[in-house]
Amino acid sequence: MIRLPLATFVRSSARQLRAIHSSSVKASDQLFVHRDSDENNPNTPFEFTPENMKRVNDIIANYPDGHKAAAVIPVLDLAQRQHGWTPISAMNKVADILDMPKMRVYEVATFYTMFNRNPVGKYHIQICTTTPCMLRDSDSILDIIKSKLGIKVGETTKDKMFTLTEVECLGACVNAPMVQINDNYYEDLSVKDMTEIIDDLKAGRMPKAGPRRKRFASEPEGGLTSLTEPPKGPGFGVRDDL
Ligand code: FES
Repeated sequence: MIRLPLATFVRSSARQLRAIHSSSVKASDQLFVHRDSDENNPNTPFEFTPENMKRVNDIIANYPDGHKAAAVIPVLDLAQRQHGWTPISAMNKVADILDMPKMRVYEVATFYTMFNRNPVGKYHIQICTTTPCMLRDSDSILDIIKSKLGIKVGETTKDKMFTLTEVECLGACVNAPMVQINDNYYEDLSVKDMTEIIDDLKAGRMPKAGPRRKRFASEPEGGLTSLTEPPKGPGFGVRDDL
């Protein structure tokens, strides 16, 4: 039997470890740098409508004098709601209005994934695949979306109706698995539910948002298991001599 020195194994396992980490980790479907394209460049037309400009001024008025920059998120959000997504020209406009360096606005828009820096379809389906949703079989929900729409994650259907994005926890874990479609959450999903939701949207019907099983919100499905008695009055549990 040939005996190899211990250092050989250490070197060998160190090489394996390096190999595991040699590729970059994919943390998002989105590219965090901007590349000018035909539809997204500093000359892409963007102006707030007169009505939205009034809303911008109302938003700015919520903040103390000299702190206009604090309005950057709601003003960017308004720009996205008006345009459907957030081109770099809209970010530049927001920077002008709020007297901020453009880079400060880019930093915000690239940090928060709620800002779509490329066009999205009429219905933007964001599916959560983080651990609680994954344990509740978000994989099947993702599969049915992909097969019904004929697109992969990060793609938009040819008719520009649906965009599919995979996201991290959307804060509705107790109703897992779930998806967000535009501003609505659809929760407690089964494959059948997801099929119905897509069929409704394709047919021009707006499916009811919220949990799909018989829950109002995130209460226990089998009824309350705690806090089942009327609350005790003031002073409960306090020492008599106090
Ligand atoms: S893990 Fe999916 S909403 Fe939290």
